[in-house]
Amino acid sequence: MAPAPSAPASVAVPAPPPAPTPSAAPAPHVEIQLASVANTMAFDKTKLSVPAGAEVHLTLKNNATMATLPHNWVLVKPGTEASVAASGLKLGEPAGYIDVRDKNMLVHTPLSKPGETVEVTFTAPEAGSYPYICSFPGHYMMMKGVLTVTP
Ligand code: CU
Repeated sequence: MAPAPSAPASVAVPAPPPAPTPSAAPAPHVEIQLASVANTMAFDKTKLSVPAGAEVHLTLKNNATMATLPHNWVLVKPGTEASVAASGLKLGEPAGYIDVRDKNMLVHTPLSKPGETVEVTFTAPEAGSYPYICSFPGHYMMMKGVLTVTP
């Protein structure tokens, strides 16, 4: 007499949940501390680098003591420094010299008065080189740098 068929060898195991997409690893977090240089129109760092997609927390300390030197930090699309500064200038001090409707303006801090620190958190854009400026009137041509976003 033939043996009774054995039970199936495999035991049902719940299927693992679908793997998240490979890019779902937590975004790296990057802290950047930037400052203005004394009573000048300059950032203390003119080159910054972050990985694409990183969560970036940037602080800007205004080290000026002269009331005529408010500053901000404005990240823009390549080649648009002058136009972004101009659109901010049109809206003036009440807007912090920022036109948030300007599609070439990617990220900005509020305007900092001398002695103040301002901050912004943003997600790093796709890889590339992005200019940053201070959009306070007359500053952008000197007060600038480049953020390199690495792949
Ligand atoms: Cu400035």
